[in-house]
Amino acid sequence: MINFQQVTKRYANGTTAVVDIDLEVPDRQFLFIVGPSGAGKSTLLKLIIREEVPSEGKVFVDKWDVTKLPGRKVPHLRRQIGTVFQDFKLLPKKTVFENVAFALEIIGRTSKEIKEVTEEVLELVGLKDQRNLFPNQISGGEAQRVAIARAIVQKPPFVLADEPTGNLDAKSAWEIMAILQKLNELGTTVIMATHNIDIVQTLPHRMVEIEHGRIIKDSELKTKN
Ligand SMILES: Nc1ncnc2c1ncn2[C@@H]1O[C@H](COP(=O)(O)OP(=O)(O)OP(=O)(O)O)[C@@H](O)[C@H]1O
Ligand SMILES: [Mg+2]
Repeated sequence: MINFQQVTKRYANGTTAVVDIDLEVPDRQFLFIVGPSGAGKSTLLKLIIREEVPSEGKVFVDKWDVTKLPGRKVPHLRRQIGTVFQDFKLLPKKTVFENVAFALEIIGRTSKEIKEVTEEVLELVGLKDQRNLFPNQISGGEAQRVAIARAIVQKPPFVLADEPTGNLDAKSAWEIMAILQKLNELGTTVIMATHNIDIVQTLPHRMVEIEHGRIIKDSELKTKN
């Protein structure tokens, strides 16, 4: 479970990005966070992975009070949370396979494990045939699928996606959504910040709307069109 308790975030320059947020995200939920540019969506996600700390309030991820987590435990927290961004942030000199495998290498898995798990997730995102290509040899949609594979290779219970379809055409965007939905069906909690109205209107997931840092609407049960 992810839980925000009366969270306010003011940045050092005085900008208040989120105000008095109370939000509970149960395990296995798929949650869209929507709202205009500057509303505070990315800030909310950053508070979950302790890229930012709240000015007031608490953020819990499972049993951890993220706000109080000692710095040395932050890597442990982040291993529970796969992250996907609008720009894919792939390593240009590594192949598709190596980009995904790298996340397992740095935590010291055996090469046999690395090979098995990397192949399994590349299969899940439909990129087995592209495994030996470099990032500049694949499409944007494929690059985002590599980024998802990399995010989930450690089998995290949570996936945060910040505008993951932002740079993609409609077809690739829907491929990304199909993968995120499949992950969710397999038990992963997914929180996705997006401007993509088509997607949020089509998929029947909880949607939290924020504006000027505040939750203005929370539709646990959205009616399908
Ligand atoms: N590091 C920072 N320092 C100061 N202000 C920041 C910082 N990061 C974000 N902000 C400000 O906080 C507010 C919320 O920003 P945030 O990035 O969370 O919005 P967003 O909803 O993700 O917007 P977008 O849809 O454009 O990605 C904005 O006013 C932004 O300018
Ligand atoms: Mg943002």
